[in-house]
Amino acid sequence: MTDPAAPAEEAMTVAAAVAGTATTMEAAAANPLRDPRDKRLPRVAGPCVMVLFGVTGDLAKRKLLPAIYDLGNRGLLPPGFSLVGFARRDWQDQDFAQLTHDAVKAHARTPFREEVWKQILEGIHFVPGEFSDDGAFDALAMALAEIDETRGTGGNYAFYLSVPPKFFPVVVEQLKRTGLADAPPGSWRRVVIEKPFGHDLQSAHALNEITTSAFPESSIFRIDHYLGKETVQNIMALRFANNLYEPIWNRGYVDHVQITMAEDIGIGGRAGYYDGIGAARDVIQNHLLQLLALVAMEDPTSFDASALRREKEKVLKAVRLPSNLALYTARGQYAAGWQGGEKVVGYLQEEGIPPTSTTETYAAVKLEIANRRWAGVPFYLRTGKRLGRRVTEVAVVFQRAPHLPFSKDDTEILGQNALVVRVQPDEGITVRFGSKVPGTAMEVRDVSMDFAYGESFLESSPEAYERLLLDVMIGDPPLFPHQREVELSWKILDPIEEFWATQGQPEPYEAGSWGPESADAMMARDGRVWRRL
Ligand SMILES: NC(=O)c1ccc[n+]([C@@H]2O[C@H](COP(=O)([O-])OP(=O)(O)OC[C@H]3O[C@@H](n4cnc5c(N)ncnc54)[C@H](OP(=O)(O)O)[C@@H]3O)[C@@H](O)[C@H]2O)c1
Repeated sequence: MTDPAAPAEEAMTVAAAVAGTATTMEAAAANPLRDPRDKRLPRVAGPCVMVLFGVTGDLAKRKLLPAIYDLGNRGLLPPGFSLVGFARRDWQDQDFAQLTHDAVKAHARTPFREEVWKQILEGIHFVPGEFSDDGAFDALAMALAEIDETRGTGGNYAFYLSVPPKFFPVVVEQLKRTGLADAPPGSWRRVVIEKPFGHDLQSAHALNEITTSAFPESSIFRIDHYLGKETVQNIMALRFANNLYEPIWNRGYVDHVQITMAEDIGIGGRAGYYDGIGAARDVIQNHLLQLLALVAMEDPTSFDASALRREKEKVLKAVRLPSNLALYTARGQYAAGWQGGEKVVGYLQEEGIPPTSTTETYAAVKLEIANRRWAGVPFYLRTGKRLGRRVTEVAVVFQRAPHLPFSKDDTEILGQNALVVRVQPDEGITVRFGSKVPGTAMEVRDVSMDFAYGESFLESSPEAYERLLLDVMIGDPPLFPHQREVELSWKILDPIEEFWATQGQPEPYEAGSWGPESADAMMARDGRVWRRL
């Protein structure tokens, strides 16, 4: 499935695109990493500053700083772009530059190029301080004013809160106090809030009150990085750009839907974040319910933010919990086991985890959607750590053919048709269907038809954070959930969390397995099984 019409890529410098003077085709030619037909070309932001709070943290080092570099490498950073780091270290600009350099070298998607690095280096600044320190934020305001003078960034600032969630309100209040949240005429101020947005409905509401007291709703960008993934956006292309699937995308043909995000890693060094949060709050409330919304929503009238969010909200509002949460939810906690040939400890033995912790590292729920399209079709969501392998997928499993004009023996191992969107890794789509086995008998067996991004497109997919950071700088919100979606998702999860809080210790499962037995029992009750991944 390679594209024979794909043009050869031309090599030139990135300078023309960065200078902001290039036409679309010139800009395309200016960057060896870019396909000249790339429709994202006109989407280059105007001059601005990205202020990263929590810049010494895990997310900044592994994802955000490399994504900024990758945008630069693709010619998508605006002229004069400046990067300000904020954290509580007694650092100079060059220390932050070194950290950024190391992070880029270790984690950037695109090759290291000296001229791109120099361009980023010119705009790098560091402001040391505690979030509670008024003086540090006053220093930040002064540094930003100076950057506007020297780099022509015009008072346009994006504040990215890559900080522990308990500090979200503190930083927002500081931005309000210093006036940094108020955009002077002709400029913009935006705030980016990492997940989790609250830990239940009430706290999400309270955080929103604080955030909207400082920034207008249109300037608040709540991150769910799954929405920045190409494969997740492709769910919309698959459904709404084709006529092939939509006619059967409903209760008349679909038996059930399975949405899985499995991780093979444990909690790593993130005990402080994870304990007390758990798998459902960490993954189901945001990523998996967003995937459910994209799979189940009606077609939006356009892909502008209000049209898209309206359809997602409608479907989230229609989600119903099972009446018996004991039978149709499951939660587990990983015990010691083997993974990738290594012996690994159980959750309760992880550093920083109290030995009595009841936090779940595996969660599965059955949900239904009360509308005409989906009535009676279960959506099974599961996520967990230390599972058999790392995989995220959405599987739409179809009903069996109403009649099979074959002998029973010939269709003994025929399964159900399925369409599987592989979100990560091996990004692509698989369709599973029955096919005749070559031979004299009419034996029918499952086969699959595969679309793989790597084979069909020359350009590798950008990282989710590249797309999302660019959208923040441009001010383009469709891929950021609205507060109403966040609250609707908590409304779905809160009763489950309340029920689990009465249930004591989660069921242990062996590291490297596929989760607790109760999760399999939940499916078996409906006569179904989890897909083997
Ligand atoms: N890591 C991930 O994979 C991931 C994935 C999705 C979402 N997130 C979210 O992203 C955010 C950041 O996560 P993370 O894993 O990067 O956290 P992290 O590694 O704990 O980093 C936290 C950052 O905040 C700074 N910080 C903490 N307390 C501070 C204070 N009182 N004053 C000033 N700076 C302070 C730290 O600076 P010091 O160096 O001074 O300690 C550090 O730079 C969180 O909201 C998290 O939920 C993370």
